Amino acid sequence: NTYLVVMAGGIGSRFWPFSRTHHPKQFHDVMGIGRSMLQLTIDRFAEICPIENVFVVTNRDYHDLVQEHLPQLPSDQILGEPIGRNTAPCIAYASYRIAQRDPQATIIVSPADHAVVNEEEFRRVIRQAVDAARSNDVLITLGIQPSRPDTGYGYIQYMDDADNTLPGGLFKVKTFTEKPNLELAQMFISSGDFLWNSGLFVWRADVILHAFRQYLSDISEVFEEGATQLGTTQEEGFISEAYSRCRNISIDYGVMEKADNVYVLPADFGWSDLGTWDSLHRIGKRDECNNVIDGDVILYDTCECVIKTPSERLVVVQGLDGYIVAEYDNVLLICKRTEEQRVKDFVADVKSKK
Ligand code: GDD
Ligand code: MG
Repeated sequence: NTYLVVMAGGIGSRFWPFSRTHHPKQFHDVMGIGRSMLQLTIDRFAEICPIENVFVVTNRDYHDLVQEHLPQLPSDQILGEPIGRNTAPCIAYASYRIAQRDPQATIIVSPADHAVVNEEEFRRVIRQAVDAARSNDVLITLGIQPSRPDTGYGYIQYMDDADNTLPGGLFKVKTFTEKPNLELAQMFISSGDFLWNSGLFVWRADVILHAFRQYLSDISEVFEEGATQLGTTQEEGFISEAYSRCRNISIDYGVMEKADNVYVLPADFGWSDLGTWDSLHRIGKRDECNNVIDGDVILYDTCECVIKTPSERLVVVQGLDGYIVAEYDNVLLICKRTEEQRVKDFVADVKSKK
């Protein structure tokens, strides 16, 4: 059986003030098309995975929000985390839970903050990965042709000789480098030899659990102790205790960089990670002056901006070039687009002042 695990517990602080602790970006209609990022994620997999096999992992605080966005999702398939411990514990929790039901399950792991343009091609590629994962003991990631030396991604170099290729167009990964520094990212890009890790993974439950035992045994031990309580009334108590014992680490650093059975399936379906304001500028619909606008906005002599403001507020802007203007829930941000990486710091400063 094919299962889907959606990781929806991030707080999306690079998208502040739109993304907020009480309402992070996966619950927003970031694209301005009437569906939240989370809903779009689930929609995308509807033909591939029945709703009874879908799990959403998120902070317990967001349980009701998830239910509101996905009324069709049975409540016990929302896996609530007491604290955010990054993606490795999140994936461990869901994998142990699914393995209780179906130890050989094929699991698709998806972030909740991606945009996909060509959904048909997306489904084709996912099905291909699912088929490959069923019959091979491999960890599969979808790889994206990179377009810039972005340091927010994982970079994958792969081998393409016959010995390192699997049917279905999968290549054995030679190196996996999570979030390199700029210099390294530039080298990767100019070598032309690397793909971005999409953060979309496909594997069987037994294969990922084996990898946890091998590379993150401290985490697998914690979950193994109480695995039989998963899916029972004891789950919540066990998980509270388990998370307090898990360290904070992403699956990329914890498993993907280390494992020797990682394969990449190069994919091209118009992908972007909607992680920052600039990503919205890249994929959003631009006017003739290269502005991406969502809101009731009148512009004069303004170009290269991202403007996202509440529809009930009329906003008039004159003379801005290359700025982010974003308002949500009584917080207004005006920031140079080229300085957007500082948004994370602004959030930290605001929090410390409160
Ligand atoms: N449940 C849960 N708990 N979800 C989490 C947690 C957590 O503690 N932390 C992050 N997530 C969710 C986020 O909401 C997001 O949907 C997904 O996991 C990935 O986390 P990000 O924090 O957005 O990761 P990233 O974008 O910096 O990097 C990852 O994705 C890149 C592509 O978008 C890595 O996999 C990179 O290698 C990859 O290139
Ligand atoms: Mg992301």
